[in-house]
Amino acid sequence: MAIISPSILSADFCRLAEDCRLVLDAGAAMLHFDVMDGHFVPNISFGVPVLASLHRGMPSAFFDVHLMISHPLAYVDAFAKAGADLVNFHLESEDEPGAVLAAIRAAGCKTGMTIKPGTPAEALLPWLDQLDLVLVMSVEPGFGGQKFQASALYKLEALKKEREARGLSFLLEVDGGVNAETAPFCVEAGADVLVAGSAVFAAADPAAEVRALAAL
Ligand code: DX5
Ligand code: ZN
Repeated sequence: MAIISPSILSADFCRLAEDCRLVLDAGAAMLHFDVMDGHFVPNISFGVPVLASLHRGMPSAFFDVHLMISHPLAYVDAFAKAGADLVNFHLESEDEPGAVLAAIRAAGCKTGMTIKPGTPAEALLPWLDQLDLVLVMSVEPGFGGQKFQASALYKLEALKKEREARGLSFLLEVDGGVNAETAPFCVEAGADVLVAGSAVFAAADPAAEVRALAAL
């Protein structure tokens, strides 16, 4: 069984709470909350007030926050207070990774580190023992609905091997272009958590899509 974290970037913002409840009721274990600052990535999405509202409306939902922002350190506390359960930030961001990890832990959240398609899995090696989750991007961050890049599969395999060799227990998450066609390859390569945006929310029956992905 895969853990499903639907990306609400592809939800209908006119009915955001209903869309969140629908995927949670269908068995999604997390909600993937994509934060974009128009600087680290060429797009702007949503931020702290939206998370705070969703958390108030759904206090028991697990919020998997993916910060695609240049300065995560400055925002960790605000997202933690707003209801983040796990904070993913990019290794390629401008802040010192050790300081960001310390801030995430101090704020009481689980730690997640993310790499873009152009960053090798080896870049994560010094940090793995401090991570609850590793997020491998299978598209360039910034937009939903892009085509899955298969190079992510090799990274998932390598990170899974490294996890076993070192006796670590972080979860492996994959994000970008994950759908019914690509998800089986991700699970086969070692992904524990599947992020899916357009595959879920653009489907005729989003609940059925969550159930199908979770069954992998
Ligand atoms: C991309 C985001 C993804 C995105 C995934 O920058 O990090 O989470 O919403 O969308 P799909 O599943 O449509 O590729
Ligand atoms: Zn994401």
